[in-house]
Amino acid sequence: MNKPKVFLTRRILEPALTMVMESCQADVWPDEIPPSHEKLLERVRGVAGLLCLLTDRIDAEVMQAAGTGLKVISNCAVGVDNVDVPAASRRGIPVGNTPGVLTEATADFTFALMMAAARQVVAGERQVRSGGWKTWSLDYLLGADFAGATLGLVGFGRIGRAVARRASGFGMRIIFTDPSPAASEPGLNAVQVELDTLLREADFVSLHTPLTAETRGLMNADAFAKMKPTAVLVNTSRGPVVDQAALYEALASKRIFAAALDVTVPEPLPTDSPLLTLENCIIAPHIASASWQTRREMSRMAAENLLAGLKGEHLPNCVNPEVYDGHGVSRAAH
Ligand code: DGY
Repeated sequence: MNKPKVFLTRRILEPALTMVMESCQADVWPDEIPPSHEKLLERVRGVAGLLCLLTDRIDAEVMQAAGTGLKVISNCAVGVDNVDVPAASRRGIPVGNTPGVLTEATADFTFALMMAAARQVVAGERQVRSGGWKTWSLDYLLGADFAGATLGLVGFGRIGRAVARRASGFGMRIIFTDPSPAASEPGLNAVQVELDTLLREADFVSLHTPLTAETRGLMNADAFAKMKPTAVLVNTSRGPVVDQAALYEALASKRIFAAALDVTVPEPLPTDSPLLTLENCIIAPHIASASWQTRREMSRMAAENLLAGLKGEHLPNCVNPEVYDGHGVSRAAH
C-alpha cells in the first residue's frame, strides 16, 4: 500500500519524526530557515498532510496548491494565527494544534522575563561584561518588588492561570481580564476586572491572549498611558498584541518602567529596531516553550494530529471541529 505523501516544513523532534517517517512518504524541509511562501507552494503540491510551524503562513493559496487530496494541517504550536482556519474549514480540512503541553514551560519563562525586567538582570549583566559596574552601591540598578505587588493577567486561560499559580507563591495580588465571565480559579484568589482597572492597578501586566481581531494592537498608546510609571509589561503571547512604536515611546519616556517581550513583529526583530536601543527592554527569541520535554511533547502531538488526519480519524486536538460530520469524519477525508 502506498504511504501518504506529507510535507513537514521543518524537522520535528524525535521520537515523533521517526513515527511520521515510518508511516508516510515524508518530505522534510532540511533548512533552519523556513521555506519561503513560493517554496511552500511548490512543496505542498499533491500532499495529503502538512505539518507546519508558527513561522509558516498557511493561507488559502497553500491549500489550493496542495490540491483536493489535502486531508490535514497539523500546526506544531498552540497558537494557530499563522493558519487561515476559516479557509481550511471551508475545504473541510481539520487543523490540529498542541495545547496543554507548553503551559508550564511558558509560565516559567513568563516569570523569568518578569523577574529579569523588574530586577534589571540583563542591564546588570551588560554592565558587568562592559566594565560599567564600578562598585556596590545602595542605589545601583534598583528594581521592583514582587511580594505584595499586583499582577494583571490579560487572558486567563491555561497559561494565564499557570502564571497566576506561580505569582500566588510570590505573595502577589492577582487580577485578570478574560472574555469568558467568572473565569476564576478556585484557591487562587484571582479577581476578574475590566481592562482599564487592570492597567491602572497592576504593577506587572502579562499578556496571555491569542492573536485575534480584538487583541491586535491591544497594548497601544492609550493603554500605556493608563499604566503605572513603575509598571512592567511582559508579552509571551503574540507580537502584534503590542503596538511596538507605542511601546518604544512608553519605555523611552519612562511612561512605564520596563518591558520584556518573547514575541515581536517581525520575528526575528531586525537588529536596528529602536526597541533594541533601550536598556529597559528585554527581547527574547520566542523561546517561552523551549524546554526539552515541552518541545518533544509538541512534536509528538503534532505527529499524532497529522497521522490521525491522514487516516481520516478525528484529530486528538482540532481547532475547527465543525469540519466533522456526526460520525467524526471530516469532509476532506471522504
Ligand atoms: C505556541 O505554541 O503558540 C507558542 O507560541 C510556541 O512557543
